[in-house]
Amino acid sequence: MNGAIILAAGKGERMGNMDKVFMKLGPYPVVAYSLLAFENCTNIDAIVIVTREDRIETTQTLVSSLSLSKIVSITTGGARRQDSVKNGLKNLPEGIDIAVVHDAARPLVTPELISLCIESAKEKGSGVAAKRVVDTIKECDENGLVVRTIDRNRLCAVETPQAFKAEILRDALDKVEIAGANITDDASAVEFSGKEVHLVEWQKPNLKLTHAEDQKILLALLND
Ligand code: CTP
Ligand code: MG
Repeated sequence: MNGAIILAAGKGERMGNMDKVFMKLGPYPVVAYSLLAFENCTNIDAIVIVTREDRIETTQTLVSSLSLSKIVSITTGGARRQDSVKNGLKNLPEGIDIAVVHDAARPLVTPELISLCIESAKEKGSGVAAKRVVDTIKECDENGLVVRTIDRNRLCAVETPQAFKAEILRDALDKVEIAGANITDDASAVEFSGKEVHLVEWQKPNLKLTHAEDQKILLALLND
């Protein structure tokens, strides 16, 4: 059995504290696109939605209006993304083999990408959506002064979905909590725990709504 955790409990600070995942993008709110992709993925059995406390009711209404059948829980998130993942994980049913974590702010996710990540996790323990970077990446200091250029051939930009054997993710998040570490994605937790992270290369756009300017691009891509 495979379960998904859809993360929708952020503050949207980089969009001026806008609750971006509940903002309308075309006919639906941003989070709806991810929910539909996971609902329509035949390899997903159960979905937990993690939202802010003040959005639980809105989410329930959305789930009903989209006639989603795989939602097993709508739960509240925590202060940091990693706290929201932990709450989500706790609310997945017992007996989950693979846990897939996804940012609700990435509405371009497809059932195919979700399945690829799950297949990798089944075989190798993890499957994390990623792209080889196309820009030249430079390490710089706080004043914008370049410190060095990193070899592009060895750089990947990591996205979600991120799928893991459930016990690998659980153990990794526990280790991160005990160490008091701050992480920005689940692959970092798994790396921190000493386990391998395997990337799943995905060429299609899978942009995260982060800044206000991303809305127009996402809308164009959704209509494509
Ligand atoms: N998220 C969450 N709980 C948190 C923080 C983030 O569930 N405490 C979710 C967001 O809702 C989003 C995803 O994690 O779908 C990726 O996070 P990000 O893009 O950083 O969203 P925000 O944290 O909301 O944005 P910002 O960092 O600009 O405040
Ligand atoms: Mg954030």
